[in-house]
Amino acid sequence: MEIKNVGVVGCGIMGSGIAQVCAQSGYNITISEISDEVLNKGLKSIETILTRSVDKGRISRQDRESVLALIKGTTNMEDFSDCELVIEAATEDLDIKKGIFSTLDKVCPRHTILATNTSVLSVSDMAAVTGRPEKVIGIHFSNPVPVMKIVEMIKTIVTSESTVEISKQFCESLGKTVVITKDLPGFISGRIFTPFVLNAIRLVEADIAKPEDIDTIFRLGAGHPMGPLETADLVGIDIIYNAASAIYDELKDPQYLPPQLMKKMVTMGWLGRKTGKGFYTYPEGKS
Ligand SMILES: NC(=O)c1ccc[n+]([C@@H]2O[C@H](COP(=O)([O-])OP(=O)(O)OC[C@H]3O[C@@H](n4cnc5c(N)ncnc54)[C@H](O)[C@@H]3O)[C@@H](O)[C@H]2O)c1
Repeated sequence: MEIKNVGVVGCGIMGSGIAQVCAQSGYNITISEISDEVLNKGLKSIETILTRSVDKGRISRQDRESVLALIKGTTNMEDFSDCELVIEAATEDLDIKKGIFSTLDKVCPRHTILATNTSVLSVSDMAAVTGRPEKVIGIHFSNPVPVMKIVEMIKTIVTSESTVEISKQFCESLGKTVVITKDLPGFISGRIFTPFVLNAIRLVEADIAKPEDIDTIFRLGAGHPMGPLETADLVGIDIIYNAASAIYDELKDPQYLPPQLMKKMVTMGWLGRKTGKGFYTYPEGKS
């Protein structure tokens, strides 16, 4: 099956990045949101990022226009009816995602592959609400999608080989490298990244180390482009908190239990860059 038309559900941080990268590879994109207001905000963020790329000389003005012309926004999921692949990148909540998969199963043709960008939730649970579980797969991009070259591809026990093969070729056409994982809580990246960040937070909470010192050690000592707490601020403290809680709920392994400091930061809205405050402050406000 040749993929030409790609649907994306959710135009937040990940959905907008996925739409941008797919359009830059020449795919026709339909992207949905819950309201025109949220949709327009997401589409605007794609425009802003492409304009920055023009200003930096990475792409031409013509490229920017061509990419934007390939992206069509909607608030009606029936507009996915001509898509060969739909990638769900909505809020990390299993009930929301199951509702979306159930709708996609009704509006998309039988051959359409339905993928989720979930970081930790069960792909099998989403597949089970459809009448095509063999065509459901996890396609987990990393943030920021235009920059990160990896895709973790999650195969359930019923995902067919042809679904895996077509999805893999699609991701490679975007310039990504694919690693195939099993449908277990956190897959590979979440299983390792989550306790790494949680352990850094535990050192801050116990007043053993400052965020700057932890991050400097990993930037200069381990060659990481960002330390664990800088990364947490970029990804969102709430996102990592929810991911850790979801893995803990499944595995009951204490290394995934979020520290109290993290819980309090979420309560206070210290979510990282997106709210202007996390482990660091962002004087220019939200970014
Ligand atoms: N942020 C990250 O670093 C990151 C990395 C990898 C994967 N993910 C995963 O990607 C997914 C999206 O994360 P995000 O960071 O982009 O979240 P986000 O909050 O920025 O965006 C989610 C968007 O989904 C929209 N949405 C909710 N229900 C919807 C529906 N029924 N139809 C259409 N849109 C709907 C929301 O309005 C919101 O704009 C999550 O599953 C998350 O775990 C996030």
